[in-house]
Amino acid sequence: MAKKREIRLIITEDGSHSLEVPELDETYHSSHGAIQESNHVFIKNGLDYWAAQNQKKKLSIFEVGFGTGLNALLTLQKGEQLNTKIDYTSIELYPLDAELTSKLNYAEQIGVEQAVFKQLHGCVWEESIAITSHFNLHKIKASFQEVLIDTTFDIIYYDAFAPSKQPDMWKYKLMEKCFEMLNPNGVFVTYSAKGQLKRDLKQVGFMVESLQGPPGKFEMVRATKNMKNEV
Ligand SMILES: C[S@@+](CC[C@H](N)C(=O)[O-])C[C@H]1O[C@@H](n2cnc3c(N)ncnc32)[C@H](O)[C@@H]1O
Repeated sequence: MAKKREIRLIITEDGSHSLEVPELDETYHSSHGAIQESNHVFIKNGLDYWAAQNQKKKLSIFEVGFGTGLNALLTLQKGEQLNTKIDYTSIELYPLDAELTSKLNYAEQIGVEQAVFKQLHGCVWEESIAITSHFNLHKIKASFQEVLIDTTFDIIYYDAFAPSKQPDMWKYKLMEKCFEMLNPNGVFVTYSAKGQLKRDLKQVGFMVESLQGPPGKFEMVRATKNMKNEV
């Protein structure tokens, strides 16, 4: 049987937890603040941006790397605040144990009931589940490289481990896959701002922006589908 990867709970600078994988010498979030980073990259520059551009009361999100469920929880909360219905699909190859996720302090840090966070982790996989009246969650246990997704989305949160740690997740082919998986005016956001990533995103057809990164990071990337001819 394959040996289970060691994963350690850590506290980041904004007081929120994250996880460290010693084998990869990698953390799930920025050590400067997990909640701060997720809010900046995915909520502010992804969800808020899309909502401001599109003025719709329903949207769909695809996340690469469900992990701790932090992005899902922040999105659920934001959906309630915006009074917008969100269909959230997330893929994860290595789901975390309940023993570990039950220790994460995200719900208390952002003021959401712990029971809701527990449900994000506890609900069944491979099915769309109504977590609240505004938030449906569909978790897929698979590898993003291998899975076939036959629906399209408004936003992709690309939250894989860093290109230096998991280069397979940042290949040109996967950027093409993301492009195909987005609706017109769909938005791809990620914390990485590698030059090669930006060149690949442009090459597959995205309009690419380098935005200010979260604290501790100079830049991040937002890529939009189909705006190329409009600017
Ligand atoms: C940087 S972590 C972030 C996870 C999550 N968004 C969070 O906030 O906790 C990257 C995640 O991608 C997952 N992952 C790694 N390889 C994957 C693959 N091939 N397909 C899908 N997920 C993968 C990891 O297990 C991990 O949960």
